[in-house]
Amino acid sequence: MKQNVAQAGAYAKKVLALIEKDDITREDAAWITRETIEGFRQHVNPGFLEYRKATSVEHAAAAVEWSDAGLNAYRDVNGHEFIDCLGGFGIFNVGHRNPHVVKAVAAQLRRQPLHSQDLLDPLRAMLAKTLSLLTPGELEYVFFCNSGTEAIEAALKLARAYDSAKQTIIGATRGFHGKSYGALSASAKGEFRRPFGAMLPNIEHVPFNDLIELRRRMHTLKMVGEEVGAVILEPIQGEGGVNIPDDDYLPGVRALCDEYGALLILDEVQTGMGRTGTMFCCEQYGVAPDIMCLAKAFGGGVIPAGAVIGTKAVFSRLFNNPFLHTTTFGGNPLACAAALATISVLIDEKLPQRAARMGERMLTGMKRAAAGHEGIVVDVRGRGLLMAIEFASNELGFAFGKEMLARGILVAGTLVNALVVRVEPPLTIGEDQADRVCAAMAESLEALDRSRAKKEQVAPAS
Ligand SMILES: Cc1ncc(COP(=O)(O)O)c(C=O)c1O
Repeated sequence: MKQNVAQAGAYAKKVLALIEKDDITREDAAWITRETIEGFRQHVNPGFLEYRKATSVEHAAAAVEWSDAGLNAYRDVNGHEFIDCLGGFGIFNVGHRNPHVVKAVAAQLRRQPLHSQDLLDPLRAMLAKTLSLLTPGELEYVFFCNSGTEAIEAALKLARAYDSAKQTIIGATRGFHGKSYGALSASAKGEFRRPFGAMLPNIEHVPFNDLIELRRRMHTLKMVGEEVGAVILEPIQGEGGVNIPDDDYLPGVRALCDEYGALLILDEVQTGMGRTGTMFCCEQYGVAPDIMCLAKAFGGGVIPAGAVIGTKAVFSRLFNNPFLHTTTFGGNPLACAAALATISVLIDEKLPQRAARMGERMLTGMKRAAAGHEGIVVDVRGRGLLMAIEFASNELGFAFGKEMLARGILVAGTLVNALVVRVEPPLTIGEDQADRVCAAMAESLEALDRSRAKKEQVAPAS
């Protein structure tokens, strides 16, 4: 587009007027839908329109979200509601627009949204103390940031600064930690890494849930003088397909790290803040890391926020010069207010315990819905409210997502693959909503079976 400042200003004003409206008209809705689709096509990335099931032709009317609808649902521009079983890939643990989080953020917004960067900002200190009390083990010091990727980036740097003689970091196959160069280097998905050339050196991967292979690799690296400084893992892999390790895996990794003098970095960006039935997933395995990464739900679904919590020994490398790793917006007052309110809601409303209870209810319902569809569904699994359905093919998973959307329920695959569809609702999801989701799953799977049978009739196998 040719530069046109006056047009840019007028367009921005038109959008602002819509943002400020309590209710939009049908004409507004049509304009928003058109501008959104065209905006994605011409100015964001047309690839998103191919990928997003909500923007496929038959669901075009449902393409554009506009507001939340209570704690556990979205409303689109045309007023249709969708139960949120995706939870923003783990953002909405305390629900959408949780009133306690919104109240805290609004109060802070009225007083001071962002800090001076030079005077001492109190909420950062207070949130850090809260986290040191909330987390297991000896985690005491906190670096705040704005996303999961940034938390991982900081964790990798802290690990390398901790012992310059031990620069190798080991991650796991199917692990996902974000897409900056550092975080991507620790991630395992070839599809995300391949186009971007050389990754960070000395980051290796071993198969997830395989202690023998981890020991072998740590031993070999020691023998060749490339000692392992840290192992980085998600306690349960989210993006990799909700992969739940054996009960002895994390304790075994902890023991190996201790034996070889390596730090254990746990990425609880998705599993933390109550998602899997305890405040942090590692608590279920009786394991405490040296460094823990948080983000996603940490900001209560209201403000982006991330944190890295580490032991004093780990953080002491930065004590002489705290400016070795910084970010302007990390730990800003709005984010701290959101995180403090989120923690308070999780504790007061016993949401981790609720996740455990509702997870069992939903998993039972999902397994019941999948029974008899063995040709389509390979597995149904989960821990707390981090659940998944694994399909026989990517196409079946994608078709399932569309069927669910047509029934007013939002689920999603992993970032570019629907082989495993994640079911990750807010921890506040109501029992009636959970049961509706399971009923819709049964209907959707039946619809898939019917359309498969129809296709086979049309084109009988040769
Ligand atoms: C386990 C895990 N770590 C890190 C990240 C990256 O977080 P963000 O997208 O906030 O940068 C994600 C995102 O999906 C994640 O699931």
